[in-house]
Amino acid sequence: MLTVALPKGRIADETLEIFSKIFDDKFEFEDRKLTMKKGNFEFLMVRNQDIGTYVTNGAADIGVVGLDVLEEHQVDVLRLLDLKLGVCKVCIGIKNNDTLDYSKPEIKIATKMPNITRNYFAKKATGVKIIKLYGSIELAPIVGLSDAIVDIVETGTTMKQNGLKVAETIMDSSAHLISNKNSFIVKREEIFSLYHKINAVINSKISLKSYV
Ligand code: PRP
Repeated sequence: MLTVALPKGRIADETLEIFSKIFDDKFEFEDRKLTMKKGNFEFLMVRNQDIGTYVTNGAADIGVVGLDVLEEHQVDVLRLLDLKLGVCKVCIGIKNNDTLDYSKPEIKIATKMPNITRNYFAKKATGVKIIKLYGSIELAPIVGLSDAIVDIVETGTTMKQNGLKVAETIMDSSAHLISNKNSFIVKREEIFSLYHKINAVINSKISLKSYV
């Protein structure tokens, strides 16, 4: 039996689609239920930022989580496979007619990713004041709460519609399959078997795309 933690939303749906393809069966959560048992798997529906906690503590053997979340929370797990889902970038955003002013003694940055932000600017030896927000980050520079933001950019629509532009890209991100370190030893065969099946589906998707 393998317990799989999935992040609520589109990444969970797309991961379950992969499972449906592999096992030629329907993998779907019932309405608001947070667990689903199917064959040798038990799926847990978890908040994106909590996946690492479930997998690190062994409440889930494996999980699916964005690279940005792994980076932000320094999660102690094994990174097995890039699922090539939920592709996005972590970027610095500023107002359309602004430039990022490195000569300032302290740049004010609004973000829900304080660690990624701190590390990035520390490498540039630039002082930052981090303003921690939980969402609607794009609002901060518009109302003068911050000079810039560090946030996820997927399509770029949110920044564009709020008069912001990307000043710099900090990292590329996509959903990765991760494993609890102990489970990877104890349940090695089950995890490897699943790994190969998922890998085959991902590669078939990619080769299909290149023919379309
Ligand atoms: C994320 C992110 C951006 C937006 C980017 O927010 O924080 O605001 O998506 O997507 P786009 O480039 O395709 O427009 P989310 O939808 O998770 O909501 P939040 O503001 O509550 O974090």
